[in-house]
Amino acid sequence: MTEQDFHLAPPPPGGRICVVGAGFMGCVIASLYARYGYEVALCDANAEMLDSFATRARPIAATFSNDGAEVAHILDRVTLETSLAAAVEGVFMVHEAVQEVLETKQEVFADLDRLCPAEVVLATNTSSLLLSDIVLRVEDKARVLGIHYITPGHIIPVIEIIHADFTPAGLVAWGRAFVDSIDHVGVACPERPGFLINKIQFAMLTEIYRLMDEGLASRDDIDAAVRLSIGPRLALWGPLLTEDLIVPKSTALAVTDSLHRQTGDENYKGRKVLRTLVEKNHLGAMTGQGWYRFHDAPDAVVQERDRQLTDLLAWLRDRDPVGGFRLD
Ligand SMILES: NC(=O)c1ccc[n+]([C@@H]2O[C@H](COP(=O)([O-])OP(=O)(O)OC[C@H]3O[C@@H](n4cnc5c(N)ncnc54)[C@H](O)[C@@H]3O)[C@@H](O)[C@H]2O)c1
Repeated sequence: MTEQDFHLAPPPPGGRICVVGAGFMGCVIASLYARYGYEVALCDANAEMLDSFATRARPIAATFSNDGAEVAHILDRVTLETSLAAAVEGVFMVHEAVQEVLETKQEVFADLDRLCPAEVVLATNTSSLLLSDIVLRVEDKARVLGIHYITPGHIIPVIEIIHADFTPAGLVAWGRAFVDSIDHVGVACPERPGFLINKIQFAMLTEIYRLMDEGLASRDDIDAAVRLSIGPRLALWGPLLTEDLIVPKSTALAVTDSLHRQTGDENYKGRKVLRTLVEKNHLGAMTGQGWYRFHDAPDAVVQERDRQLTDLLAWLRDRDPVGGFRLD
């Protein structure tokens, strides 16, 4: 990210956005933008994908409203285009959602760079490619941003805003304002393998795959273990506030060091950020400061923690974890 000057008008309410690619994600993204009042030009090289758009988008729009007329109104705000030049006319942003093939994205971005005036933001929904590679043939890279939805994107509130070395900080701020305008929550991170969410998610999943490969835990025990222990805490507070609330940093550090000693795996080695907190005695809620600063006494924090967790677990324990699905 650079601090270079970057001035863009805020996302205009009701303005026009082009979504390129009317596949699985393009359909979700176009429906969502239309729901929040934007005019959407949905472009796909394959006319059949456009023909089937309304059929695929209706159930998505139906999650926004029970009112059939309102659903129809949302879908009416999406116009369908096979020509990219026509689709980008008058837009303030383009959101690319073509398949995850580098050459295809490079080609689309070269075309967008040529077709769109400098004030048009060019966003990609890539899940794994680097912006630096996607913009290989783009001259004006300073307007390119990653805006990455998490499936199902019309329901999961968080969107990753990905930036590269050439991205002005002002464009990341613009991206956050845009994401706010569709009632989602933007989290920014630099381009890197896994971005932010997959990096965290796959850290857990790779450990789970390993446990299963080695026959150390069953599918059902793994799901129950996560669902009824770390899952609810993470859902309520995220990993860092959870740590402040449940374990002194000195213990967390001792656990990571012990895992490191026992496995020899450098991944477990207690990181600098954690050691620094321990050195400062910022152990968490019990010392009034951890990752967060606490204004209430430890007893009051624990009481509130337990109240929130009890509420959530009461709801969760009453549910059949596979209820609603037909599974073995
Ligand atoms: N599927 C997911 O759950 C998910 C989640 C987050 C992000 N993503 C990312 O979103 C992007 C799209 O994924 P998807 O699953 O929707 O793909 P998809 O294959 O369902 O759809 C891609 C669409 O792009 C169209 N297309 C290809 N080249 C084109 C071009 N030059 N001009 C116009 N249209 C073109 C195709 O015809 C197709 O309809 C990928 O980058 C993917 O990594 C996917």
